[in-house]
Amino acid sequence: MDGFKTRLSHSLQFRLSLWLSLVILAMAVPAGVYSFFSAFHEANDLQDDQLRQVAALVLSRDLPPATPDRRATGKMKDDESKVIVQILAPAQYAGDDDTSLRLPADLPDGIQTVKVGHVPWRLFVKPAASGQRLAVGQQTEVRDEIARDSGLRTVMPFVVLIPILIALVSIMVRGMLRPIARLSQEVDRRDDQDIRPLDEQHVADEIRPLIGSINRLLRRVADNMDAQRRFLADAAHELRSPLTALSLQAENLAATDLSPTSKARLLPLRQGLNRSKALLEQLLTLARSQNTGAPQPSQVTQVSLQAALRRVVEDSLPLAQANQIDIGVEADTEVTLAAQEVDIVALIRNLIDNAIRYTPPGGNVEIRLHAQPGLVSIEVEDSGPGIREAERERVFDPFYRVPGSDQDGSGLGLSIVKSIVARLHGKIELQHARSDAPYGLKVIIRLPT
Ligand SMILES: Nc1ncnc2c1ncn2[C@@H]1O[C@H](COP(=O)(O)OP(=O)(O)O)[C@@H](O)[C@H]1O
Ligand SMILES: [Mg+2]
Repeated sequence: MDGFKTRLSHSLQFRLSLWLSLVILAMAVPAGVYSFFSAFHEANDLQDDQLRQVAALVLSRDLPPATPDRRATGKMKDDESKVIVQILAPAQYAGDDDTSLRLPADLPDGIQTVKVGHVPWRLFVKPAASGQRLAVGQQTEVRDEIARDSGLRTVMPFVVLIPILIALVSIMVRGMLRPIARLSQEVDRRDDQDIRPLDEQHVADEIRPLIGSINRLLRRVADNMDAQRRFLADAAHELRSPLTALSLQAENLAATDLSPTSKARLLPLRQGLNRSKALLEQLLTLARSQNTGAPQPSQVTQVSLQAALRRVVEDSLPLAQANQIDIGVEADTEVTLAAQEVDIVALIRNLIDNAIRYTPPGGNVEIRLHAQPGLVSIEVEDSGPGIREAERERVFDPFYRVPGSDQDGSGLGLSIVKSIVARLHGKIELQHARSDAPYGLKVIIRLPT
């Protein structure tokens, strides 16, 4: 019952279907009852007319209207449905014949309902020319049964059609409200970066204002996100110059003649400055990759994935050698993609950087490029510890790092990768490279061409 109430108060579709069904029933039930009774009465009238006609027929033919003749009619299957025709006679006469009804001789002329024994009969009494009186009759029960049948036959279409009508109404209401369901599915399917306006053109007039409001809200959200991104980019940019100046000062200081203690103290300072510079670069890359606006056409070119990969691998070789990591590259024929080159480089750089840094010395990193019609895939697989399934959503959050990561890092790398993949309308998947520990991480990126 609670479920019913909730649906009644929350579901427009349910309410519409219910009310329309109730209206249909409210119209149809009285109409059905009226039809039944009018058909019933009509059938009764018709039967009265039949009695009159039989009487007229018998009198006009001047047939001997003695008693109902069972021998002549044969054994009737439905004995009680018969019409009796008999002369009204004094009781002692009638009593001689057990097949005739014991009708009182003083019945008035005309149509009437009379109880004979305990059985009600409908009788038509008509005087004949001979002075005798003719009674034509039928049991009321039989008549009523026939009339009921006729009434039920007129009600039958209602009984059959109303459930069909109610079902059709529900189907129609559901069909009409389907655009709303489709709209919500469309919104649900979107990822959190996708704040394009919803289609306002191909919807019903009643829904359009709602979509207009949602679109205005989406625009405000987009403006807000833009402002945040610009703030992030501006802040990172503003910090860059003083930080560069500081690094320069530290380098200058390192070049001077310092005491061993001072040199030892300077080292962490320089490392800290380098980490801060790296963080700032990552922040700038993230702000740029989260730009929701379409890139300038002049910035989009056919980027060669092999060339970008080669560049990143060359840049990463010193780090790989320092960590004793073997890098293998497997690339199909030339694969190009319409994109901004900085995006592709940042994407590959972050993946290879992670693979090298999180893989223990002696491990290896495999990079594969594959092209299929309409799709390119970039796979980066390493022999490191991998990422547990429970962490695979969270590692894409900005600044999130898996607890226990002993490497330097900002936690921005995979957020950058995710933003770039979303911008290129691609998909990203994290898997274990092997089934036994160390599981290794396999990142698969699929981009439409
Ligand atoms: N190849 C990998 N192997 C194991 N763990 C990884 C790998 N790549 C990323 N991770 C985990 O995901 C977290 C987030 O990665 P990322 O966003 O690049 O940040 P960062 O590398 O700066 O820590 C890392 O802290 C690390 O724990
Ligand atoms: Mg990283």
